[in-house]
Amino acid sequence: MSQEINKEQGPTCEVPKGVAPIKKEFLILVKNQVINWDHVPDGETKTDEAQGEKRPIDDRDLPGNHKKFKLRGQNKNKLRYKIGRNTIMRGQKFDGDDDPKPRVDKPSRLCLKYNDNEGLCPFGSKCEYSHDPYTISKSFENELFDAERPCYIYSTYGRCHFGVACLFSRQHMKCIEEQKKVYNLIDHRRWSLGGGRESFIERTKNRLVNNVQVKLRKKNYDFKIVDDIMKRLYKADVDDEADQEHQSDENYRRIGAALVDEFTSSRDFRVKKVDFKEKLYLAPLTTVGNLPFRRLCKKFSCDITCAEMSLCSSLLQGNPSEWSHLRRHECEDVFGVQITSNHPDQAAKIVKVLNEHCELDFIDLNCGCPTEWICQSGAGAGLMQRTSKLRKMIASSCMVSKVPITIKMRAGCTEGKNNAHSIIKSVINPFTSKYIGAVTIHGRSRNQRYTKLADWDYVNHCGELINDIPIIGSGDCISWQEYYQRLEDHKNISGVMIARGALISPWLFTEIKERRTWDISSKERLDIIKEYANYALDHWGSDATGIETCRKYLLEWLSFACRYIPVGLLEVLPQKINERPPKYKGRDELETLLSSPSASDWVKISEMFLGKVPENFKFLPKHKANAYESVVEG
Ligand SMILES: Cc1cc2nc3c(=O)[nH]c(=O)nc-3n(C[C@H](O)[C@H](O)[C@H](O)COP(=O)(O)O)c2cc1C
Ligand SMILES: [Zn+2]
Ligand SMILES: [Zn+2]
Repeated sequence: MSQEINKEQGPTCEVPKGVAPIKKEFLILVKNQVINWDHVPDGETKTDEAQGEKRPIDDRDLPGNHKKFKLRGQNKNKLRYKIGRNTIMRGQKFDGDDDPKPRVDKPSRLCLKYNDNEGLCPFGSKCEYSHDPYTISKSFENELFDAERPCYIYSTYGRCHFGVACLFSRQHMKCIEEQKKVYNLIDHRRWSLGGGRESFIERTKNRLVNNVQVKLRKKNYDFKIVDDIMKRLYKADVDDEADQEHQSDENYRRIGAALVDEFTSSRDFRVKKVDFKEKLYLAPLTTVGNLPFRRLCKKFSCDITCAEMSLCSSLLQGNPSEWSHLRRHECEDVFGVQITSNHPDQAAKIVKVLNEHCELDFIDLNCGCPTEWICQSGAGAGLMQRTSKLRKMIASSCMVSKVPITIKMRAGCTEGKNNAHSIIKSVINPFTSKYIGAVTIHGRSRNQRYTKLADWDYVNHCGELINDIPIIGSGDCISWQEYYQRLEDHKNISGVMIARGALISPWLFTEIKERRTWDISSKERLDIIKEYANYALDHWGSDATGIETCRKYLLEWLSFACRYIPVGLLEVLPQKINERPPKYKGRDELETLLSSPSASDWVKISEMFLGKVPENFKFLPKHKANAYESVVEG
């Protein structure tokens, strides 16, 4: 970051369209943005001949197909997914995060069950992991962080269940060399003050318990009621989706609310209410909307949180990494999960399981995910073109759910052919707010991705058509001013969902609530990153594996957070999502570092809290947020 500043040539008030109006004194005039590519994997960058500039590989580089939805960042993992007529599923060999699971050398790892349970491991001598903390602790003594770095888990709860495997364990480990023994210390006062083991475990809900996983895997979970419902629905649906234009109103009603009413009236059935009106709602965000990030948003006064999208097929298989999306922290007082499927019965089955084994306030049905393999299979945004299926999916889910079903869709699938309004009329309106909690519309079509601004007038138009269900708009709101403007200008909308705005500045929720612009300092921003790192350690663990998971998610978030432009640097407020900043420097070194689009600088920031990265560490953000044309799910 050593480029020269040339104030004379700096733009004054005349800022070209699409460029953020940074004050002249902070501009750094260089021809091209200098990005450090050290931590980006080889083969993921290319030098543009026209501009002589290095950039990440993207659609443009795929032979003759720049118009397709193909994206290396996401779709290179395509083969790891199974797409069949009857199922879509994340590949078995890989976890939900698309990375191959590294082979674990079990005998060289401490058994965390043994460690956490005062030496009691349910597998006893058959356990493949090590039950010898002393030898294990000696084996990676050099990797431990120095004593000045306290262990967040130990300092917060009084006990760190990673014991000697924790890389911060110098603070809570006592070694007695003569006995060749190592002890994991407990701060009993703090531990019992917090309620001990039980409250520690209870802080996060919705774990996949063993007996449920076994039932799902062995396919003996009781789904009889769903099978009955599906029979009724298919019987009532005389026509198929291809012929939807000719379906009579009577059929719509039968397959919609009437049938649901008929069904639920015979049972003790009352759907809980959730108030979505003008609530600060954090969007479901694949990968980045994880539990630690949602905790951060709750701290900044977000009202409603929603987990990232999960595939019903993988949940039905009892896949632990898919189930991990459903976890809810105790601070998430209004919380929903988001599911998608290409089969109504699969969705209804999962809705039943979630109702029976999870603590949730609503279940959101994703009809907006643009990822090709998902749409191709008929799930995500693909559901917007399969209205008959969608109607059955909503009806069957409503019949088994005691929490409201909500629906999140896009304006449409193809630019210029919005069809959310017709889905509202033909699919959603027959239901009532008794079953459907809210409908969210992301005001862009599937193939528009993020290239254009969201069409809020269209979302408002959809709000006008809907009967008695709240409509929430989604798209491009990254400032408190825009938030209130949307509500003011679009009277048929009940709320504004916040997605990238929260990733760029999680304190946006506070700004909205207090109607004020927060000129946040770089020190305060770093403290927020530290807070996230701590929540991450709490969630994914402070042993070597946990820390690398924390780092991965922290870097994913930083790839968005670097887009924040400090208030004091802007000529005109507020920052806009479609305005890219020219190269600029911050008011101090840290502010400059926090705004860097280089993965290498994000790595540097992660090292402040999570220690040094392993040698040859590589990172490519999943959502390539630093490329401003970022293409993501939803
Ligand atoms: C990184 C990222 C991940 C997303 N993941 C999901 C998702 O899992 N489910 C979903 O319905 N929408 C998802 N979306 C879409 C957002 O919820 C939101 O509708 C969209 O980004 C538009 O809002 P914005 O312009 O405020 O970002 C995602 C968006 C981003 C940026
Ligand atoms: Zn064991
Ligand atoms: Zn620890």
